[in-house]
Amino acid sequence: MAPKTVAIIMDGNGRWAKKRGLPRTAGHKKGADTIRTVALAAQDMGIQKLILYAFSTENWKRPEDEVSYLCKLPGLFFNKFINELMEKNIRVTFAGELEKFPQTTQNVINKAVNMTKDNTGLELCLAINYGSRREMLLGMKKYADEVAQGKRENDLTEEEFSKYLFVPEDIDLMIRTSGEERLSNFMLWQLAYTEFYFTDVLWPDFNKKELIKAIEYYNGRDRRFGGI
Ligand code: IPE
Ligand code: IPE
Ligand code: MG
Repeated sequence: MAPKTVAIIMDGNGRWAKKRGLPRTAGHKKGADTIRTVALAAQDMGIQKLILYAFSTENWKRPEDEVSYLCKLPGLFFNKFINELMEKNIRVTFAGELEKFPQTTQNVINKAVNMTKDNTGLELCLAINYGSRREMLLGMKKYADEVAQGKRENDLTEEEFSKYLFVPEDIDLMIRTSGEERLSNFMLWQLAYTEFYFTDVLWPDFNKKELIKAIEYYNGRDRRFGGI
């Protein structure tokens, strides 16, 4: 059985390019093609929501030319694949603070979200300018404001707190490529009971076969959620 919600930390684009003597941006370009491959595979396998970590709140630290290429990538990606995503009934959403991106980047993302909003297949959620601590902080501030304004009681439950986050769902399976085994500020709340799958495969080389391996690993786990 396929997990309902899968999240991927798409890592290793830079190393993929370096191995080939190419600029890091070539790795990001190839990595964007992998997004298409993996989204279509996820849809085939019956995954309901696929969350992809594409740009973290810490990635602004990178050299200006790399950041500027990463800002252009959503435009390149949707130009190439939006028609296919529509045909395949895939719904695009995002998690993160879009406002920090250039207006053109915001426009292409909003356009893809609007265009696909009535699709009923896979939800493809791009985590962009996403940081888990920031996400929780924003949620807490919003809740505190509502309480201060008398709009609600100080009676928050775990389930309701989730609704103040960009991603309210618990994640079933988290995959990180490229051999790194850390969370890098990704979905700290949503990963509380998630199964983790780490692979040395670099993101541009990840494909349907690798996704199937991760799902097989997931299916072999005994998820106890604190029980026995
Ligand atoms: C992941 O690949 C893509 C982003 C973080 C935007 P990296 O760019 O981190 O690639 P490595 O880790 O340097 O190989
Ligand atoms: C995490 O990868 C962020 C994304 C994949 C978008 P990084 O390459 O930025 O993470 P660190 O710096 O190795 O922890
Ligand atoms: Mg990296």
